[in-house]
Order: sequence, then structure tokens, then C-alpha cells
Amino acid sequence: MTWQTLAEARDEALGCTKCRLAGGRTQVVWMDGNPEAPLMFVGEAPGFHEDRQGLPFVGAAGQLLDTMLGSIGLDRSRCTICNVIKCRPPGNRDPMPDEIEACRPYLEAQLRFIKPRVVVTLGNFATRFVLAKQVSISRVRGQRFEIEVPPGQGRVVTVIPTFHPAAVLHGGGNASPAFKALQDDFRLIASVLAEPVPEAPAEAPAVETAEQEALF
Ligand code: URA
Repeated sequence: MTWQTLAEARDEALGCTKCRLAGGRTQVVWMDGNPEAPLMFVGEAPGFHEDRQGLPFVGAAGQLLDTMLGSIGLDRSRCTICNVIKCRPPGNRDPMPDEIEACRPYLEAQLRFIKPRVVVTLGNFATRFVLAKQVSISRVRGQRFEIEVPPGQGRVVTVIPTFHPAAVLHGGGNASPAFKALQDDFRLIASVLAEPVPEAPAEAPAVETAEQEALF
């Protein structure tokens, strides 16, 4: 894509008709938060309330996300919140592969221009997109992955996959093992954010994976 700024990418997204989801949306849900912040959350797709308000994570899952942010002393002014898909799938069904591909340039632009230091992926769809691997969230949650974003430019991003807050709500709420895992993962986020910022290497590392290349 030839966008020079995040605003250019946003302006195109707001009028996007590249997939069938454009026909059913009330509005495009671009992002929330502070693009200067080092932390980015990536969710799946807008739901009913997000589609109405034009902001990500404003329904029940968003309340849990806000609570978890508060548990580590943060709020939305200290992070950005995006989704893989910018328009609501009908009935909140899973995004389809061609919808993810149509929307791909927008999240890639958000990652490229915002340059977060830590990316937290919420659930399977976001995790598979960012890691560019068909992983299962229950296997990778709570781990940290250091990957170059964009690849080959020497800027290493820490990716921390965790459960999607909606999955935690549907899976038993506060008493569930998934909630305990979410709490553990937010403690990991806080500790990674507290680490000293690594200096950018003078030269880009020689090794690049094909999977990372595919991401950008
Ligand atoms: N679930 C998501 O993945 N994203 C939202 O914005 C809301 C709910």
C-alpha cells in the first residue's frame, strides 16, 4: 500500500467496500486509544455495540478489557486497541479468510505506523494474523514471541497472545481458569512494559522467516 501516514490508511478504511461486510456495517471501527503508546491490543472484529459506536471493545468484552487494563494500572490512553477486521460480521460470526485478507492492509498499516513495542493478541484470529502461524490460543497464550515488525528492519516487537475477553466471559467468568490465565497474562504484559527499551541494532539482522515476510 502507498499510504504515507496512519491518517491516510484510516481515511481509506472508513470508506472501504473491499468485502461483503461493508454492506452490513453501521460504521467502520478503526481503533481507539493513543497511537503514541508502546502497547497495542489486537482483537477479532467489532460486535453489535462497536458497530454502533464506531469504537472497538465497548461492549461486555471491552468492559473486561478495561478492568484488566486497570488491574495493571493502565487505561485506554496508555495503549491502542484495534481489530483484525474493521467491520462487524453479521451475527458476530467468525471472520472469513477472504474478509481477513481484504482487511489485512489496514492492520498492517496500524502496526507499521504506530510501531508498538508490545502487541497483545486477543484470541485465535489476532494471534494467527500477527504470528502468521496457525497456532491455537490455548497452546500459546501467556508466552512471549519476539518478532520483527516489519520484518528485516531490526525493530523487534514483543507479541503476547492471550485469551479473548469474550471467550473468558462465555467460559465461566471470574471463577474460571481462563480468567486466572488472563490475569497472569496481564501481569506478564506489565512486566514486559517495565523492561528497559532495547536499543535498535545498527544493522538489520540477517535472518528473516518466510512467514514474517508474508505478514508485510
Ligand atoms: N470483540 C472483538 O474482537 N473486538 C471488538 O472490538 C469487540 C469485541
